[in-house]
Amino acid sequence: MLFIYASMCGIIGYVGNKSAVQILLDGLTRLEYRGYDSAGIATIDNGQFRVLRKVGRVENLINAANQRNIGGYIGIGHTRWATHGVVSEKNAHPHCSVHGLFSIVHNGVIENYESTKEFLLSRGFTFESETDSEVLANLIEYHFNKEQDSENKFLKSVQKALFHVRGTYGLAVLCEDYPGEMIVARKSSPILLGIGSGEMFVASDASAIVQHTRDIVYLNDREIARLTPLDFSITTLHNENVDVVKCELDWHVEDANREGYEHYMLKEIFEQPRALENAMRGRFSDDLSTAKFGGLRMTTRELRQVDRLLFCACGTAWIACLVAEYLIEKYARIPVEVEYASEFRYRNSPLDKNTLVFVISQSGETLDTMAALQEAKRKGFRTLAITNVVGSTIARESDGGIYQHSGPEIGVASTKAFTAQICIAAMLALYLGRMRDMSFEEGILFVKALDDLPGIIERVLAQSEKIEKIAEKYAQCDDMLFLGRQAMFPIALEGALKLKEISYMHSEGYPAAEMKHGPIALISEKCPCFFLATQGHILAKNIANIQEVRSRHARVIAVAAEGSELVDKFVDDLILVPDVHPALQPIVATIPVQLFAYYIAKFRGCDIDKPRNLAKSVTVE
Ligand code: M6R
Repeated sequence: MLFIYASMCGIIGYVGNKSAVQILLDGLTRLEYRGYDSAGIATIDNGQFRVLRKVGRVENLINAANQRNIGGYIGIGHTRWATHGVVSEKNAHPHCSVHGLFSIVHNGVIENYESTKEFLLSRGFTFESETDSEVLANLIEYHFNKEQDSENKFLKSVQKALFHVRGTYGLAVLCEDYPGEMIVARKSSPILLGIGSGEMFVASDASAIVQHTRDIVYLNDREIARLTPLDFSITTLHNENVDVVKCELDWHVEDANREGYEHYMLKEIFEQPRALENAMRGRFSDDLSTAKFGGLRMTTRELRQVDRLLFCACGTAWIACLVAEYLIEKYARIPVEVEYASEFRYRNSPLDKNTLVFVISQSGETLDTMAALQEAKRKGFRTLAITNVVGSTIARESDGGIYQHSGPEIGVASTKAFTAQICIAAMLALYLGRMRDMSFEEGILFVKALDDLPGIIERVLAQSEKIEKIAEKYAQCDDMLFLGRQAMFPIALEGALKLKEISYMHSEGYPAAEMKHGPIALISEKCPCFFLATQGHILAKNIANIQEVRSRHARVIAVAAEGSELVDKFVDDLILVPDVHPALQPIVATIPVQLFAYYIAKFRGCDIDKPRNLAKSVTVE
């Protein structure tokens, strides 16, 4: 049987005194970066469900909604990223129960859907889609039919259905018999409530509702909430009381707009000076010789006991971990290991007892990173998280951490979050280094270099037109290699990842010298090489590698530091960047590779903010 999981998607809900449709459609537009295979809404209009679903972009849904007059002051919406099976209208959310009494939007995976479906089939229920979410809608209706009439009948039937299911869910449910009420629940898939005046919002991610309210309550796992226009209540699934913690979003709706940029990715690339300032704000000691972090919840004495660090993450955040490894080992002299979160969670690697575990996640919701964090906690390790999204699951589950304060990152390709993560890694290297062998003078120089960084990044961004022209020359290639040594090796990986994810050009990142041990076989006039060669002390080594690929007819683009103008005679295209403190070179060198990937994707006509097959936050294994 074909089974379609519903996950990694966006959810929005509204109950209040305004027409729901526009709020839902606006919310879905903002959530589209979470998934763009199909989208749908359901409202209760004069006591009856109105459901509209469309395959493809939210725009299709908006066009369809504009041709109908869908009323209602309560509604739910969903944008889907398919993990298994076909994308079709039938499989789009919201899903209704068989007698049309319930409508549901669901993120997550119901693992025992098959047995549940068989059970429901045997009791006369029928199914229109192959989704697990429709099974859940019908299970709620099954329990509703058995429940005694009471004020809490809707809530109780959702609770009973959730007792029965195994798996994960972030969900919002409407019931035609309760047209002023919405039930939402969460287990391992984010759900938050937005508190308005005479209205309540629900979303899987704050960007969907920030234009309406910045007062937020995050649901915890196994909590269920009931919302009416004027009120909300939260309990655990077992009816235990919950201490409701309200928080205020630390960013505004303008932060989630494109503000005249053609793409979010470009806007976010250009936001990096400000994002770096935000990552550093208030995080230097009074004598400006070291960094400080309020959220680590560890004393200097405890930090000095740490013998080893383990960093876990996925994707670009994993690449930031690799940079952290270079920086912390160099400046703090603490051994660092880096693991893919998805590998760590099942690998059972032996860890020294004084290991401190860091996870890095922009969204704070990546499932594998979350699972790695939980595994480290299960083993009794202290865990710290570097995350961008305040109140995200990973931020809440870790023992302490550091917020990036990068503002919302909407472009699927991570840019400003990455450089902020490296900036925090550099500050950690400084902080841990100053507890060990780094001198006061070195600390002062390090802080000064960090302080100068936003201005330096502005200077690199000012070269965007030049980088665009270079990109045009290479835009139609099929392959590209990114090469760099030491801390530039992760930036080579990041360059290759950016390029492949948004332009679909095959690209690989390698340590420059390692290229001789295999990848050199790929090199020809059709496979240009992009060198990241900003380090003065190994410039000659990089030039030697450049000559090796040139003699095999590769065209070469290089990023080098000002003062290394001699590189020009060995390469086809040279991008000079300011010569900065070695710890900050990875950040400076990242800007040209981001812009290069962006412009290549643009010349190739790609959908830059919504690259095919990708989703911003990966909440499945
Ligand atoms: O939200 P996270 O930082 O945990 O996301 C991790 C990766 O999924 C993410 O970095 C992904 O690789 C980006 N698309 C890269 O641009």
